Amino acid sequence: MQICRTVKEMRALVDEWRANNSKIALVPTMGYLHDGHISLVKIAHTLGDKVVLSLFVNPTQFGPTEDLDKYPRDFQRDVDACEKNGVDAIFAPTPDEMYAKDFSTWVTETSLSLPMCGVSRPIHFRGVCTVVLKLFNITRCDAAVFGKKDAQQALVIQRMVRDLNVPVEIVTAPLVREADGLAMSSRNRYLSADERERALSLSRGIFAAEKLYNKGERSASVLIAEVQKSVEQANGKIDYIVCNARDTLMPLESIDRPALLAAAVYFGTTRLIDNVFLG
Ligand code: PAF
Repeated sequence: MQICRTVKEMRALVDEWRANNSKIALVPTMGYLHDGHISLVKIAHTLGDKVVLSLFVNPTQFGPTEDLDKYPRDFQRDVDACEKNGVDAIFAPTPDEMYAKDFSTWVTETSLSLPMCGVSRPIHFRGVCTVVLKLFNITRCDAAVFGKKDAQQALVIQRMVRDLNVPVEIVTAPLVREADGLAMSSRNRYLSADERERALSLSRGIFAAEKLYNKGERSASVLIAEVQKSVEQANGKIDYIVCNARDTLMPLESIDRPALLAAAVYFGTTRLIDNVFLG
């Protein structure tokens, strides 16, 4: 497995691979890998002859008061996990390598980025789109894999790729949960034991709402109220709970088309997200 720290190193390797007609699949990550990321690597192996995993805590997608500095990092642990799972190369640049001091070009998706996480994290998706397009250009990947836990992110990236004719196949992968239901996230490690326990109310609320949907309930407000009841009982502070159309992310009253029920909730200072696709 190769570890590339610079764009030049990554490009040289990719040029070599492409000269041999290898297909390249990318798994973009911010590191501190868990089983959710490993499930993306497994899918990447089915899409490309070579798998690149990028490890980069992207500063431009964090707001000024967010957790950029304390975001968990453990490079050696990530290297070991990649090695064990047959990753061919890690791309782990520094922020200076990725962003020139006078960097001034951004990719802004202007529709799907606005609701949900876009409300409380107004620059988030601009940072995500910009870094993801840069990663696509640096790795010249044929395919890239994104988890459905970040459902809005996956939709925004699919839209960017469609709108800008980016020649990369975007594949989305199922959300992976801990045995007790909590959606896997690198941020789960911020939770105290008490918060970890209370955070289960989020997945429980989502499951309860999904169950109602499967029994025939089609009122968005009833499903939202089900999640709300669960997290409020556990003292979670709600950022949002929405039930939106899956293709436009516009709010639905009645779930008469494929939908995304999604929530962001704080337990202590940790903001967790979870969702389920309906229909
Ligand atoms: O989902 C993430 O970890 C990040 O948003 C991504 C896609 C790696 C871009 O920094």
